[in-house]
Amino acid sequence: MVQTPFVITIDGPAGSGKTTTAKALAARLGFIYVDTGAMYRAVAYAVQSLGHAIDDAAAISALVPDLDVRLELRDGAQHTLLNGENIEEFIRSQEMSKAASDVSAIPAVRDAMVSLQRNAVKGTEGAILEGRDIGTVVFPDAPCKIFLVADVRTRALRRKQQLEGKGMVVDLSVIEREIEERDINDSTREHSPLRKAPYAIEVETTNTSIEEQVSMILTLVEKRLRKVRGEDPA
Ligand code: DC
Repeated sequence: MVQTPFVITIDGPAGSGKTTTAKALAARLGFIYVDTGAMYRAVAYAVQSLGHAIDDAAAISALVPDLDVRLELRDGAQHTLLNGENIEEFIRSQEMSKAASDVSAIPAVRDAMVSLQRNAVKGTEGAILEGRDIGTVVFPDAPCKIFLVADVRTRALRRKQQLEGKGMVVDLSVIEREIEERDINDSTREHSPLRKAPYAIEVETTNTSIEEQVSMILTLVEKRLRKVRGEDPA
């Protein structure tokens, strides 16, 4: 019998703690983890490397079928590969965040990435996918959906710490402005905008430490998992 993977979707705006939460859940449950934002970042990187304008939807749509985007786990860390090249260190800057947000509005890009994301979970026991449209479009029937929210200042502070941890020098007010712009971009685009999915559990994390956030979500997810597996009829 082919098993249906248990899919957990985590959606939310930039800096809402999706990655940390998804990684912790994956480690605890032994599920795979898919950072779908990295896929859009890989497309943006390809577009820039080839010298296309980021708003040239026709050129970008034509390019997409030639891109081999893969996510691999090496020594416990995720690496993003584009046509076999490890581009992880080039795709996390604020400039790439904005470019990823721009290319992600193009339907041909979305179609290709959604299909990669659906393929990624095949044959697994369970998977955690984080992004913007996972609960609404990629896996609308997922048994467990989380929607994370936090105020802009909190998210900007988290992003600043993350980027500084990677050795980048950043200004809090600039990050805050870029996050606000990306929020607007990602939630107002025509195709698959950032939205809370029906039945998603909304978790507000402005005044919650990342440890508390992870532990709270883990409790929610484990309860749902027991229910789906018939171990907890309550
Ligand atoms: O999660 P992230 O910040 O790495 O995502 C970068 C951009 O990619 C984000 O601003 C919008 C886009 N994205 C998307 O449109 N759909 C997803 N499922 C994930 C990311």
